[in-house]
Amino acid sequence: MTTRVFTGLKPTGQLQIGNYLGAIRPVLDLADDPANEVLVCVVDLHALTVDHDPTRLWKLTLELAATLLACGLDPRASLFLQSSVPAHTELSYLLESTAAYGEMTRMVQFKEKSAGRDSVRLSLLTYPALMAADILVHQTEVVPVGDDQQQHLELTTTLARRFNTRYGEVFTVPRAITPVESARIKDLRDPRAKMGKTGSDGAGVIYLRDAPGTIVAKVRRAVTDPDPVLSYDPTARPGIANLAALLGALTRTSAQRALHGLTGAAALKQAVADALVDTLAPIQKRYAELIADPAELQRLLRRGRDAVTPAALRTVTAARHAMGLLEAG
Ligand code: AMP
Ligand code: TRP
Repeated sequence: MTTRVFTGLKPTGQLQIGNYLGAIRPVLDLADDPANEVLVCVVDLHALTVDHDPTRLWKLTLELAATLLACGLDPRASLFLQSSVPAHTELSYLLESTAAYGEMTRMVQFKEKSAGRDSVRLSLLTYPALMAADILVHQTEVVPVGDDQQQHLELTTTLARRFNTRYGEVFTVPRAITPVESARIKDLRDPRAKMGKTGSDGAGVIYLRDAPGTIVAKVRRAVTDPDPVLSYDPTARPGIANLAALLGALTRTSAQRALHGLTGAAALKQAVADALVDTLAPIQKRYAELIADPAELQRLLRRGRDAVTPAALRTVTAARHAMGLLEAG
């Protein structure tokens, strides 16, 4: 028996190295284990929950899909667009009909994103039901997610259990796993802030598509400190610690161990820049090929969609039936 793993990524911005190390690579690692069957979904519908620009969404969706494939998702996992599998939205409505208004308004992410706004899209409130549908429609067992998604995942398991108890066993109850390499990579120019947070001008963020020259320049300008001897101390020396964590993550070792044999900040920066370029060069090469070949990209997305659709439809049909919806026959 294989373990069904599902994860979703939002097409809301340029991917940076933190996304790769914290989200994409852990999924690739799971996909490398033949005991797992991995589904990766570009959750484009979730991008509609806040003010958005259609052209930008279209472009970011294409770029995210191409990036995920370039990182090696194909052929190890099924990649598809959320909006191309309508079973997600259909199940979302059924789940909304099992969830309470108060459960949705309690979500921290909803509170944060709606605070201080006079107009909030209704889909921002119901978003956790769609996220639950994303997971449950594929009978998912394991969901790799970061800390910020734990609450949504708990709601998902609550809704699955509630549905199963009230209407009959339809859903597998999933569990969250937090990727082991959950080390937060920090902004190179502001090593106390997470890399990728909006507000940064990008000078301290390594984007997956940055050219080698840009990477070298950004790493060279990373904030460090005057102490010439390297040591790992995230509190007193956040800049050095962040570079060590980044090097450790890239070379799959610990931050402390990554510093072994390096004699000063300049050598550390050189090692980080080299490791970044080594990691990103093959991804960028494959990305350029894919983005230049929309037909191939479409083919891969269709293949993902077609691979997951039949089972998803079976789940929705079972849920409809359990809830008392009559089939037209
Ligand atoms: P976000 O784009 O912030 O919604 O994050 C998407 C995924 O990438 C989440 O699973 C995060 O845990 C991961 N991620 C984003 N930024 C970082 C970072 N700086 N370090 C580690 N993981 C990150
Ligand atoms: N809500 C997640 C985020 O903001 C993205 C997401 C949507 C997701 N559906 C999912 C993650 C299902 C895991 C499983 O990052």
